[in-house]
Amino acid sequence: MSSIDRIDPAKPLKNQKALVTGANSGIGEGCAIALGAAGAAVVVNYRSNPEEAERVVGLIKDAGGEAIAIRADVSDEGEVQAMFSKAIATFGTVDILVNNAGLQQDAPFQEMTLKQWNTVIGVNLTGQFLCAREAVREFLRRGVVPEVSRAAGKIICMSSVHEVIPWGGHVNYAASKGGIMQLMKSMAQELAPQKIRVNSIGPGAIKTPINRAAWETPEALASLLTLIPDGRVGEPEDIARAAVWLASDASDYVTGQTLFVDGGMTLYPGFATGG
Ligand code: BGC
Repeated sequence: MSSIDRIDPAKPLKNQKALVTGANSGIGEGCAIALGAAGAAVVVNYRSNPEEAERVVGLIKDAGGEAIAIRADVSDEGEVQAMFSKAIATFGTVDILVNNAGLQQDAPFQEMTLKQWNTVIGVNLTGQFLCAREAVREFLRRGVVPEVSRAAGKIICMSSVHEVIPWGGHVNYAASKGGIMQLMKSMAQELAPQKIRVNSIGPGAIKTPINRAAWETPEALASLLTLIPDGRVGEPEDIARAAVWLASDASDYVTGQTLFVDGGMTLYPGFATGG
C-alpha cells in the first residue's frame, strides 16, 4: 500500500500534533481550524488577545478536535522554547509547524525607523527561524513514526507574494519575506535526508486584519482587484486548504517549494494588456 492509499481523506492529519503561530486571527486562525478538522491536535499560539486564541480553541473543540492556546512572542528565544516545551508536555510531540505569525509596519523608505525595521524582521523572519529550530530539534529527537507520517516533521512557512514581488513603502516586510524564501529553501535542502519537509505558502491578498485598508472601501477594493486576475480577494480558507495538503503525506515528495495561493497575483496582470 502506498502512503497515499494510507491517508484517511476525511482526517489526513490523524494522530498528528500541530503548532500554528499567530493563530488567533486571520490566516493563522484559518490554518489552525483546518488542521484541527483534518485530525491534528493543535497548539493555537498568540502573543496578545488571549480571548481570541480561546475563541479559536473553542471552534476547534466544537468541531470535535483537540486544541490548546499557548502565549509566546515568536521573536523571543526564551518564550519560543517555553512554548515548545509546553506543547510537547501537553501533546507528546510536534509533527507540524505552521510558521505563520507576521506583521506589517509600513513607512516610506526615508522615514522608516530602525524600530520598524527590527520589529518586522524580528517577528516575520527571526521568529520563523526560532520556531523552526525548536520544531526541528523535536523532529530529530523523535524521528519518523511510520504509522503517523512518512516524514519526521513538516514545516510550512507563511511567506507572501512579496517574496518575489517588490513592494515599495513596505521594504521591511518585503525583505522579511525574501529572507523567508531562502530560510525555507536552505532548511529544506539541509533537512531532507532526515525526512523533514519544509515548504512555504505565498498568499496574495487575503481578507484579514493585516490588509483591511486594502479591501475595506469600494475604491480600495477596485484598485486591489486590478492586481488579481482571478477577480476576488482570497479568504483564509484558501490558504488553510493548502496548509493541510502541505502538512499531509499527500505532499510527501514536495519540499523546498513556495506554493503561491494568490488568484494569479504573481502572474504580473499588468502585462495581460501592456508590455
Ligand atoms: C500582505 C497584504 C497584501 C498582500 C498582497 C500580503 O503579504 O500582508 O497586506 O495585501 O500581501 O499585496
